[in-house]
Amino acid sequence: MSFNIAVDGPAGAGKSTIARKVAKKLKFIYVDTGAMYRAMAVYMLRSHVDCTDEAALEEACRKISIELAYEDGEQQVILNGENVTPYIRTEEVSQMTSRLSARPAVRAALLNLQRRLAEEQDVLMDGRDIGTQVLPDAQLKIYLTASPAARAKRRYLEYLEKGDNTHSLEEIERTIAERDERDMNREIAPLKQADDAVLVDTSDMGIEEVTSHIISLYEEKKAAA
Ligand code: DC
Repeated sequence: MSFNIAVDGPAGAGKSTIARKVAKKLKFIYVDTGAMYRAMAVYMLRSHVDCTDEAALEEACRKISIELAYEDGEQQVILNGENVTPYIRTEEVSQMTSRLSARPAVRAALLNLQRRLAEEQDVLMDGRDIGTQVLPDAQLKIYLTASPAARAKRRYLEYLEKGDNTHSLEEIERTIAERDERDMNREIAPLKQADDAVLVDTSDMGIEEVTSHIISLYEEKKAAA
């Protein structure tokens, strides 16, 4: 049986950086489900699909195929045969993704694919609803969070590192708060800590510290299994 680790939490808590490191150390496949939702958003933006129209979304979802590939261990998301990874991290795509991910048609389209990936191999999957909906039987569940100010500062520094100085800290704080509000209060699969998830607050923790903490939680679970 495969071992599954579910990592959920809000934007900017450090999920993808930490999940990637933990997966590498444990030799697990890392599945970034946010990237799958983002690829869907790229499709909807390019095809001008009205994301408030459920029927139009259902029809669009039937035309979408999403696959994951790995290049030098890095997840690539393939939308209808095209690697769209370079286009998924813009502010426009982030906002569209957050809206889109509240829609039942979109969530249904990705749920089975995500479950199948976890059945086949040891995976560490990160997202918003992994511990609560996608992999409710995951052997280890982590809820990774940090204060809104810490999260906004991290995103701000990420943009600067990429050479993008067009976003102020205030703007990022506002957009993070908007996304939190939507992700936590949507009707379907809202972001919330699973009852059996371990809460890890990364506000005052470094990447290495969080990584080794999660690895020790994994080792405890593995020893108890
Ligand atoms: O983790 P991220 O920032 O790449 O996620 C982008 C958006 O996708 C985020 O606003 C919430 C949504 N999402 C989701 O609803 N469920 C998931 N499992 C992963 C992401």
